[in-house]
Amino acid sequence: MIRTIPVGLGDRAYEVLIGPGLIDQTGARIRPLLKRGRTAVVADETVAHLHGDRLRASLSTAGVHSDLITIPAGEASKSFEQLAALSDDLLALGLDRGDLIIALGGGVVGDLAGFAAAIYKRGIDFVQIPTTLLAQVDSSVGGKTAIDTPRGKNLIGAFHQPRLVLADLDVLSTLPDREMRAGYAEVIKYGMLGDFAFFEWLEVNGPAVLRREPEALAYAVGRSIEMKAEIVAEDERETGRRALLNLGHTFGHALEAEVGFGEALRHGEAVALGCAQAFRFSVAEGLCPGQDAQRVDRALARTGLPARLDQIPGGPFAADRLIQHMGQDKKAEGGTLTLILAHGLGQAFTAKAVNPEPLRRFLVSEGATS
Ligand code: NAD
Ligand code: GLY
Repeated sequence: MIRTIPVGLGDRAYEVLIGPGLIDQTGARIRPLLKRGRTAVVADETVAHLHGDRLRASLSTAGVHSDLITIPAGEASKSFEQLAALSDDLLALGLDRGDLIIALGGGVVGDLAGFAAAIYKRGIDFVQIPTTLLAQVDSSVGGKTAIDTPRGKNLIGAFHQPRLVLADLDVLSTLPDREMRAGYAEVIKYGMLGDFAFFEWLEVNGPAVLRREPEALAYAVGRSIEMKAEIVAEDERETGRRALLNLGHTFGHALEAEVGFGEALRHGEAVALGCAQAFRFSVAEGLCPGQDAQRVDRALARTGLPARLDQIPGGPFAADRLIQHMGQDKKAEGGTLTLILAHGLGQAFTAKAVNPEPLRRFLVSEGATS
């Protein structure tokens, strides 16, 4: 069964389709979006090998011409160099504004190809076909596109909404278990930040989602996208509620910056630990009942995600360095720290001008060095 979730953004509104077998329907689904039937499919080498032929066969059957552009797999591809190479490939193909870029892959491909689409000939349409759990429930929806620079992650980018998102649940069958778990951190994050009933459902059904049991997977992906779509429609440019989607990200980013972005620590693993720390810090500040933080720990541990600092490779970490990284977060305002904290499960809020001293004491209590 295919489920459709609308993203209500006025004249830039679009639909997210979720279900098995969607890749085989891509040609028919995107044909109406095209003026002259031309597309460029952007994929990393791994995903191109696994799923590229099926996608291009579907396009061809619908009379849609496609050229394939591959990039190396991994976070390092979100760079100015790859952006320049991709833009040049698109120019060499002669793609016009009436044509379409298809981003087939995880968040790396979606962010890079989406950003290229935002700036190519001052903006060209693109479609997201997310192939990781993380990309399906988070990065493919909402229009954030970006590359990294040596000064930090996602610092150069644009808001550019896709015309359509096709989340094919079958493609997750080839995803390595570790990537599946990392994506699951973003799923359970939705429950923690704003839907207690979903969190409770995941406490029971999380392992079934990770085993990719079709019903559990479809429900978890669908509920996550529903929440993301609702929040994006309300606050596309992150002036308010959208910031709650960053629960766990400021704590997590600080560790990613220390360990290095990539294989050693996956983004979702950092987010999992970050969520656990956001809840424990909320408890330490007297904002949240201790039992809620314990439930977060247990739910993460049950699915093999890290909830404690000593589970992260590369430690011990210095509290001051972590706080320094937190201050460079895009949410930081005027040199003060902004964190997403919680009054309880399903009740996240934005805490501005957080005092660094209690935060430092908290990080030391977590095992960071003083
Ligand atoms: P990724 O794109 O690097 O994919 C992870 C790995 O899985 C890659 O090696 C890839 O080749 C492989 N892979 C992808 N699909 C596969 C499949 N179906 N079968 C087998 N292997 C597959 O990483 P990711 O975790 O999807 O995305 C992380 C990126 O997303 C980060 O750069 C992060 O900044 C970004 N992100 C963006 C947003 C946003 O709103 N734009 C939100 C969250 C994260
Ligand atoms: N991943 C956070 C956002 O899209 O806002």
